[in-house]
Amino acid sequence: MRVVSGIKPTGNLHLGNYLGAVKQWVAMQDQIQAQGGETMYFIADLHGLTEFIAPAELTANTIEMTATLVAAGIDPERSILFNQARVPAHSELAWLLNNVARVGWLNRMTQFKDKAGKNREGASVGLYDYPVLMAADVLLYNATHVPVGEDQKQHLELARDIATKFNADYDSDLFSLPEPLISAAAPRIMSLRDATAKMSKSNPSEQSLVKLIDSDEVIADKFRKAKTDPDLLPATMEELDGRPEARNLLTIFAALADRSPQDVLSEFAGKGFGAFKPALADLAVAKLAPIRDEMVRLLDDRAAIDSILERGAEKARALATPTLKAAQRAMGL
Ligand code: ADP
Ligand code: NA
Repeated sequence: MRVVSGIKPTGNLHLGNYLGAVKQWVAMQDQIQAQGGETMYFIADLHGLTEFIAPAELTANTIEMTATLVAAGIDPERSILFNQARVPAHSELAWLLNNVARVGWLNRMTQFKDKAGKNREGASVGLYDYPVLMAADVLLYNATHVPVGEDQKQHLELARDIATKFNADYDSDLFSLPEPLISAAAPRIMSLRDATAKMSKSNPSEQSLVKLIDSDEVIADKFRKAKTDPDLLPATMEELDGRPEARNLLTIFAALADRSPQDVLSEFAGKGFGAFKPALADLAVAKLAPIRDEMVRLLDDRAAIDSILERGAEKARALATPTLKAAQRAMGL
């Protein structure tokens, strides 16, 4: 079993990114390895180019994402952790696969339609071709399983179609078909000021999100000031219907504590937010402070980050090069 997963380099990471993405990766590393499987994680910096980003920002985001992953528990000794751009075989295989993928297949990709919006003619070719690079990312390593959220299911199907057509066209058995890895649904964290909107770095209100880089005092203050309602906490989750702020804070508590929301609710049933919010603030500080401190330490040591990515890339290249060579041979190159 080999699981391959990529994440786009984003900066200013917040609690939503941590609970919804980073923490899931750490849990996956432990689960897959407990079953004797291998985990490969990469920062998708090449995919990051598909919508314009200032070069310095892309560099900084890749570094921040790496520091965050390592600080949160991705172990570069146990998982292969690297960035795409350091492994040229991703780009090279993507070009080969471009000649296998059909325009009609890409035209059906809903994520391109969503991201390009009305300005399809103005979208980059890279944004259109994004799913072919994604196919190369996983086929290069003969990934057996690829974790996919709802929005990526169609892209994994495409990778399977490309692999099947390559094998048929070139009378080859080079590529095996990766299966989707369905994991427990990641929690969706909402804004602390308006629980109908997702917690997001694009929200202009500083109080709406907890940043992973926030100090203990700032974290605690944001939870103390989080919007809530005057009612007491009920005994069951169903009774939280119509109370999005309460539900969101419960979700955050449960995700940080690795408990079910119902379990947390049972502990606080009959109490008000005057009791719940300080407990949440303490828990958040206890869980986030060690990650932040390690992130800060790593961000101050660019050489350490560089060496983590380079050593990961070395391992990735050793696996990728034979696949690329075999694909080239199969195609007559
Ligand atoms: P943002 O919305 O702040 O721009 P990104 O779109 O860069 O965040 O998301 C990076 C990763 O973090 C994705 O896997 C995404 O699903 C996850 N993520 C982002 N915001 C949240 C949130 N509020 N709750 C849960 N997961 C989130
Ligand atoms: Na976003």
